[in-house]
Amino acid sequence: MTSKAAILLSSISVLAFAGCESVPSPIAPPVTAAMAKSTGRQQVDLAWLNSGRSAFVSRCAECHALPALNEHTRAQWPVIVAQMAKRSGLGPEQRENVLAYILAARGL
Ligand code: HEC
Repeated sequence: MTSKAAILLSSISVLAFAGCESVPSPIAPPVTAAMAKSTGRQQVDLAWLNSGRSAFVSRCAECHALPALNEHTRAQWPVIVAQMAKRSGLGPEQRENVLAYILAARGL
């Protein structure tokens, strides 16, 4: 990559990042250390949450728009994810990761 292209790319990503910050509630916010800390097992959970987020973003928008995390309560999500995991063909591990991500990203 030429240095010009690199500069162009990095300024695009800075712009994109700044753009994201102005959105009050991103639909699938990136996994943060704070999300993992809330579960108490940081290292493992960051990997789980990241894997859950990528499955959520890629698989849960196949049939409908990606659902907003705050459209459903913490009590509703496990039921919904269980139903939707069947539709998405997610295995048990991915299903757990997706649910963990949704609950961590959703907050309290
Ligand atoms: C194969 C298609 C398909 C995939 C993949 C899919 N869904 Fe759905 N989803 C549907 C359909 C159809 C509905 C409409 C309601 C129903 O029939 O239950 C729906 C409804 C929903 C709703 C609204 C439920 C309600 O009670 O209002 C949520 C939330 C949802 N899906 C989340 C997800 C998540 C999370 C995933 C990924 C794990 C996912 N969906 C993957 C087909 C799919």
